[in-house]
Amino acid sequence: MMNVIWLDTIDSTNSEALRRLPELESGTVLAAREQTAGRGQRGNTWFTEPGKNLTFSIVLKYGEGGLPPLPAKDAFWLNYVISVAVADFLQSHAIWCKVKWPNDVYVGKNKICGILIENALTGNGLAASVIGIGLNINQREFPQLANATSLWSLTGEEHPLEECLEKVLALIDGWLPYLQDQDKRQTLFSHYSRRLFNLDVNARYHDYIEEREYTGKIKGVSEDGRLMIWDLETPGKPIRYYRFKEVGYII
Ligand code: BTN
Repeated sequence: MMNVIWLDTIDSTNSEALRRLPELESGTVLAAREQTAGRGQRGNTWFTEPGKNLTFSIVLKYGEGGLPPLPAKDAFWLNYVISVAVADFLQSHAIWCKVKWPNDVYVGKNKICGILIENALTGNGLAASVIGIGLNINQREFPQLANATSLWSLTGEEHPLEECLEKVLALIDGWLPYLQDQDKRQTLFSHYSRRLFNLDVNARYHDYIEEREYTGKIKGVSEDGRLMIWDLETPGKPIRYYRFKEVGYII
């Protein structure tokens, strides 16, 4: 069960959750009506109109009083839990979304949700995770962003933020136990994989390891959380495996 704390304005719910991490219990959610310095992946800024969208962070702790322990090497499963829960939320509004690995949620060519997970480690296990989610709900225009959309843009209806948050949290709560055992992970994995953005489609990719661009086809995600891209430009057409930040999409 999650316990939601609404804040009127804060720099970033992720930053606030990290600052207050020692005192916050597992399952605490900090939700902001306005973020003044919302953070995105790769040091980007997350812009949203105040009062229009969901911007919140979930604190999870592992071990006593929290979730069962999770080895750091399995942290990527959290991406799948959140992506699949957000996908279910959108599906409940008759919207079919795709997940741009590891965890951007797209409807068509437009991004509707961004996820920023920050973990605290102890040894080789996770001590806590701060899961930041920015989900566009009622915003109608995105002046700074070329490829963004919202629930309003897709349904033509306004949706109360509190209700949307409750619904998303309930779905996340439902998927969290799927982290635990191998069989459940398979189910979670297949729900995630079938929504992979660009699956089996020819597209351009930037390989940050070799610093080159090429045409390839996403073939899936490996069991250890790496993105598999079939390199169509290299003789022998090898499949390349990428960890987070090792590959970029050229859109
Ligand atoms: C991304 O796609 O780049 C990730 C965006 C994550 C945005 C959310 S909004 C709530 C939480 N607080 C932040 O500062 N960022 C995350």
